[in-house]
Amino acid sequence: GDEGHVEDVAFSFEGPFGTYDEHQLQRGLQVYTEVCSACHGLKFVPIRALADKGGPHLPEDQVRAYAAEMEIFDAELDDFRPRKPTDHFPPHGDPNAPDLSLMAKARAGFHGPAGTGINQFVKGIGGPEYIASLLKGYTGEEKEEAGTTFYENTAFPGGWISMAPPLYEDQMEYQDGHSNSIENVAEDVTAFLMWTAEPKMMARKQAGFTAVIFLSVLSVLLYLTNKRIWSAVK
Ligand code: HEM
Repeated sequence: GDEGHVEDVAFSFEGPFGTYDEHQLQRGLQVYTEVCSACHGLKFVPIRALADKGGPHLPEDQVRAYAAEMEIFDAELDDFRPRKPTDHFPPHGDPNAPDLSLMAKARAGFHGPAGTGINQFVKGIGGPEYIASLLKGYTGEEKEEAGTTFYENTAFPGGWISMAPPLYEDQMEYQDGHSNSIENVAEDVTAFLMWTAEPKMMARKQAGFTAVIFLSVLSVLLYLTNKRIWSAVK
């Protein structure tokens, strides 16, 4: 059919106890910065979030230095100035490239038998898998249509995308010595884009977990209270 092929990936952040891997997010930021940001933007993401615990957790001075490398037009100054951590990431460079801030939650990825969504229940939300599959899904075939080049991609619905393959082998130099195969690089940048789409995931899971414990203790106390109140009647 028209639907693309999406491979399941066992990301660290899946499941009720899953957490982001801070080193993976840092590598993903590097990929985003060196490769994707040439065309795409992250206009909804404040740069200061890079320092967040549960996120990339970069030291504050590194975040300031990172921000300062990107310029922004300041209407008050009527001039460009370096970005501050309180500014957002720049918007796209190529107007045809969609903003990636929320992309990991904007695509279904998995659908499951007859569009029931069962695959999402079993394998995870699917949006991140879609991005990873897209980055790994180029066949090498290309065609020219109405002056635009399209590249065959097994994950992209319809099979032909106008984004040229952004990744190639040995492109990235990771400081932490992690493998830089296309597969790893694709998964690293995908994890980073999951974080931009859901930066508070870890806090949310923790709050949910606390609530479950709290409600369990409350149930026991209410049960005992109930028995005591009615003990005379029985
Ligand atoms: C589309 C990711 C690098 C240009 C997309 C989409 C994603 C994505 C998820 C949306 C696909 C969809 O609509 O379902 C990435 C990542 C990159 C990267 C993670 C870095 C590793 C680039 C670069 C360029 C580019 C370097 C420009 C040279 C585009 C364009 C589209 C697009 C033009 C729209 C394609 C279409 O709808 O046919 N990208 N991209 N991307 N990207 Fe990228």
